[in-house]
Amino acid sequence: MRGLRKTYGTGSAAVTALHDVQMRVERGEVVGLVGPSGSGKSTLLKCLGAVLTPSQGHIELGGQTVFEGSRWLNSDLTRLRREQIGFIFQAPYLLPFLSVRDNVALLAMLLGQPNDLARAAADRLLADLDVAHRAGAMPSHLSGGEQQRVAIARALINRPPILLADEPTAPLDSGRALAVMDLLERLAAQTGTSVIVVTHDEKIMPRLGRIYEVRDGRVGVP
Ligand SMILES: Nc1ncnc2c1ncn2[C@@H]1O[C@H](COP(=O)(O)OP(=O)(O)OP(=O)(O)O)[C@@H](O)[C@H]1O
Ligand SMILES: [Mg+2]
Repeated sequence: MRGLRKTYGTGSAAVTALHDVQMRVERGEVVGLVGPSGSGKSTLLKCLGAVLTPSQGHIELGGQTVFEGSRWLNSDLTRLRREQIGFIFQAPYLLPFLSVRDNVALLAMLLGQPNDLARAAADRLLADLDVAHRAGAMPSHLSGGEQQRVAIARALINRPPILLADEPTAPLDSGRALAVMDLLERLAAQTGTSVIVVTHDEKIMPRLGRIYEVRDGRVGVP
């Protein structure tokens, strides 16, 4: 991305959360994004993930321009998100009326996989994240860390070429946090997924290939 700007609100209430951001992440790279609270990390991730529309700038995904000037070039943003992006939000946001397994399987079903195959793929991911024993439970019956691991599994079900993770290990103990990093590293190495991880977590910083620092909406190298 380059020249990326995001302003929330208008007039005297306007807050410019990103100023002229430039960043490049290679295939198979695991990159960290660090910076103080309110500096713009989540805003940046949401713009990249087509969850928010930037005010201005240029974004390319996999060599294709998807955002130019002040608009998305792809008219079907839902499809762009489903096919290209895995997003782990700062909070798990699981659907309360679906089981853990179906929360993870849903996107694969929406993309046309038969339900039994989608559920089997969900179970494999839940096992990778050490939460397979809760597959039949409803999300509200899980601990915060378990819910977060389910949200990570959900983000991986469509094998996205780009994975955006907003503090994915914050609610996890250090053993589980490192296991999540192992999984993300393996994914990047084996499938060429580009991973961007927002983190304050000192334990996982040594595991990041490169780190960008966000400060007052500007991105640099620390
Ligand atoms: N929906 C919104 N409307 C108006 N301002 C917003 C909105 N979301 C975020 N902001 C502002 O944009 C700036 C960047 O917020 P952002 O959530 O990106 O920070 P962050 O770096 O992710 O912080 P944290 O580490 O606390 O999660 C902050 O000043 C915030 O108050
Ligand atoms: Mg944030």
